[in-house]
Amino acid sequence: MWRPDSWASKPLLTQQARYPDESALARATDELSGLPPLVTVAEVERLKAQLAEAAAGRRFVLQGGDCAESFADCSTASITNKLKILLQMSLVLVHGLETPIVRIGRIAGQYAKPRSDELETRDGISLPSYRGDLINGAEFTPESRTPDPRRLLTGYSLAALTLNYIRALTESGFADLGHPENWDLDFVQHSPLAGEYRDLVDELKHNLRFFELVAGGRPPELKRVDFYTSHEALHLHFEQAMTRDQDGRWYNLSTHFPWVGMRTAQLDSAHVEYARGIANPLGLKVGPGVKPEELLRLLDVLDPRQEPGRITLIHRMGAGKIAQGLPPLLKAVQASGRRPLWIADPMHGNTASTSAGYKTRRFNDILAELEQAFALHAEAGSRLGGVHFELTGDDVTECLGGARGLKEADLRRAYKSLVDPRLNYEQALEMALSIVACRRSQERAAHKAG
Ligand code: PEP
Ligand code: CO
Repeated sequence: MWRPDSWASKPLLTQQARYPDESALARATDELSGLPPLVTVAEVERLKAQLAEAAAGRRFVLQGGDCAESFADCSTASITNKLKILLQMSLVLVHGLETPIVRIGRIAGQYAKPRSDELETRDGISLPSYRGDLINGAEFTPESRTPDPRRLLTGYSLAALTLNYIRALTESGFADLGHPENWDLDFVQHSPLAGEYRDLVDELKHNLRFFELVAGGRPPELKRVDFYTSHEALHLHFEQAMTRDQDGRWYNLSTHFPWVGMRTAQLDSAHVEYARGIANPLGLKVGPGVKPEELLRLLDVLDPRQEPGRITLIHRMGAGKIAQGLPPLLKAVQASGRRPLWIADPMHGNTASTSAGYKTRRFNDILAELEQAFALHAEAGSRLGGVHFELTGDDVTECLGGARGLKEADLRRAYKSLVDPRLNYEQALEMALSIVACRRSQERAAHKAG
């Protein structure tokens, strides 16, 4: 029998922090359970319906944001810039793919990280690894690295502040499609892509004016856009405390779209046990090591009723592995009769270290994985229904390449991520433009061949 805490009796419980004081943890989660939810069931269900439409080919998903949000970064500029870049990318995609876009931020709660090692060693000193601001601090001191349950309440509060500001912005005309100039990031003045983006905005404005003339006004739907939140459902004490009963179903109301990460996506894991009982739409990361039969069994457990919109499979293979890894999974899922939504995360399989020790990703590897993903889905008679990026609206230097040709020597200028390297605003916008270009050339080729 599933319960919000049935995960705790699973033997495979990995990636959890060890708290020195269990009773302090219990006090924090008790307090959390009494606090109001961050999102509503109606919103969660609306997203599920939109994801079902994406699975059916009528929408395209754009999911993106930080690898790990940090508490210190909960600021006006950081939130506004992330929202702006996601809006700009979605504008490019709406226009280029001629499909409505479902926007989901890795935001307002993406505070917990899985780590490969329990301990980190520097100069002969070993301390617990940094697991994200929800758990401990990044600073390499014993105090900071000791898991502190009060961070759960801080994380909840900062997620609430973030979401509050996002809601205020999207409700008050910031995202008005009639005024995309509001979303200009400074770089639009000087980027090599500025011209391309401006042309697109001009064309859109022209189309809107035409529409207004014909329809006698602008439909209110254009004045606000839907924007959903997501995070990895990793810290199960936190997720459990935010799991609430409504009309006989359990929902995780800390986020619209929780996902199960690759490291915790095993059939008998505590994380899969937790995820199977909540009614939210669920993301499931699928790495290159997953066997077709394992994936099918996971789908049986997580989505026994084959509910539309319930499952989004987020594959993250790597540019060098996707051609081998993805087709058998597509084939098995097709043969099972299931039609989940597939989206591509071209970030997590393409991480490399530079000789100076920076964790980075190359723009071209990311794009190459995406291009292959579109093509492999088309070949299998499946459909890639979205993309998942680690990105920021700021001018960071964490990924290599892109229109400005960032080189290894540039990384030190503004490498800010505490965990994985993110596309900066310019690379992110270029990625959206490249997706459109790639789709168009693939469609042209298919047209010729057909
Ligand atoms: C992530 O999305 O930040 C992450 C850790 O991904 P994955 O579980 O796919 O490795
Ligand atoms: Co990451």
